[in-house]
Amino acid sequence: MKHKTVIEPFRIKSVEPISLSTEEERVEYLKRAHYNPFLLRSDEVIIDFMTDSGTSAMSAKQWAGMMEGDEAYAGSRSWERMESEVRDLTGLKHILPTHQGRAAERIIYGHLGGPGKVFISNTHFDTTRANIEFSGATAIDIPIAEGKDTALEHPFKGNMDVAALDHLLKEHKGNVGAVILTVTNNSGGGQPVSMANAEGIAAICERHGVLFLLDCCRIAENSWFIKHREEGMEDLTYREIAQRMFAICDGAVMSAKKDALVNMGGFLALKDTELAEACINLLIITEGFATYGGLSGRDMEAIAIGLREIFDPNYLDYRIKSTLFLGQKLHDLGVPLMLPIGGHAVYIDAKKLYPHIPPHHYPGQALVGELYKLGGIRTVEIGSVMFGTYAEDGTLKPAPMELVRLAIPRRVYTQSHIEYVVETFEELMKQREHVRGVRITKEPRFLRHFTAHFEPLA
Ligand code: F0G
Repeated sequence: MKHKTVIEPFRIKSVEPISLSTEEERVEYLKRAHYNPFLLRSDEVIIDFMTDSGTSAMSAKQWAGMMEGDEAYAGSRSWERMESEVRDLTGLKHILPTHQGRAAERIIYGHLGGPGKVFISNTHFDTTRANIEFSGATAIDIPIAEGKDTALEHPFKGNMDVAALDHLLKEHKGNVGAVILTVTNNSGGGQPVSMANAEGIAAICERHGVLFLLDCCRIAENSWFIKHREEGMEDLTYREIAQRMFAICDGAVMSAKKDALVNMGGFLALKDTELAEACINLLIITEGFATYGGLSGRDMEAIAIGLREIFDPNYLDYRIKSTLFLGQKLHDLGVPLMLPIGGHAVYIDAKKLYPHIPPHHYPGQALVGELYKLGGIRTVEIGSVMFGTYAEDGTLKPAPMELVRLAIPRRVYTQSHIEYVVETFEELMKQREHVRGVRITKEPRFLRHFTAHFEPLA
């Protein structure tokens, strides 16, 4: 018999209690957190869909590996294992361990950036953009046009606009820091990037003599989509697909907190020796020596094991299909979504859900508050709170989309958790016309979504 139920391909060996709360309590918690879920305590959250980053459940093998961690300052065995695993996967010569993705970003983009420099991506993730802009450089996003239409079905909505890339590389000749392909495209709705697109970008970058980097933190999930959607790829394993993509780039930045199934870690991998040496110097100044870079030996052990486990076909199949399960249920309820459903998250189109709330009243932030109030579900706005900027006269220049992300931690929640979320949405849909927007009462200059304060509009 062939079953249609996709089961979690693991048994649960260790559990962590969830503290339950009432709606009245959550109204108070949210007020105290200034309507910003980043300011909630985790004990006030029932289902935490804030991020899939660093929230994975590690396997028994990873925990066992942690006991083997070699904590030597230099030349640790655990580093050797991590380095050889990353090198085997990426084929890149120089591997630099970092405590998470943004540390690798700060090193490479700090080094390549600076005033007058330009970086081009399908979509820069928020920390990527912040690190580039902090150096004084400019970050330009060129997703394909299909990627900006949430309702449109397209197999690889995470692709970069190759014609626009060619044009920009001519326009900014001599000033391009790097071209960065984010797989999957997180800020663009978790949408996958095709191999053909990556190959097209690699060829253009080579022609212009420009560095081509992968932001590869969800490359295993991206490989699932390539195998199932791209012609000619069906006979390759997920790992071979990832290896083929790494083979055409000049370097990669990875937050291991995603597809390496760990709670902390990352790396920078580079082909060029001179560039790697400059980056190693920066690594040693702020992260740690070149054989640990801010990680414990046990973290490096867990990364080495996680990078193997992630390519298990049973795991990847469950991972993508269980995300799809949630997306499909919400779609059936009439919740406007980013389609097709991506790999690590379901994205809600808050602009369509709340058409009566204009962008400068932040419909996504309003939805985040509703989900928390009704179900204790913590999510993140990826819209004008995260990416909006101000014009000279102080008016908001909104982000292209007003999305809310339900990011699903790996191997953490079961089907009944998902059904609870769906039930919350049933109620949310009934109340949608009565929801009001919010206003910002306090904000920092960079990455304002983390610490901004809000107030509901009357
Ligand atoms: N690049 C991408 C595409 C990311 O999604 C993230 C993190 C980073 C880089 C930075 O990595 O957090 O280890 O420093 N994304 C998390 C998220 C935070 O919730 O999507 P980091």
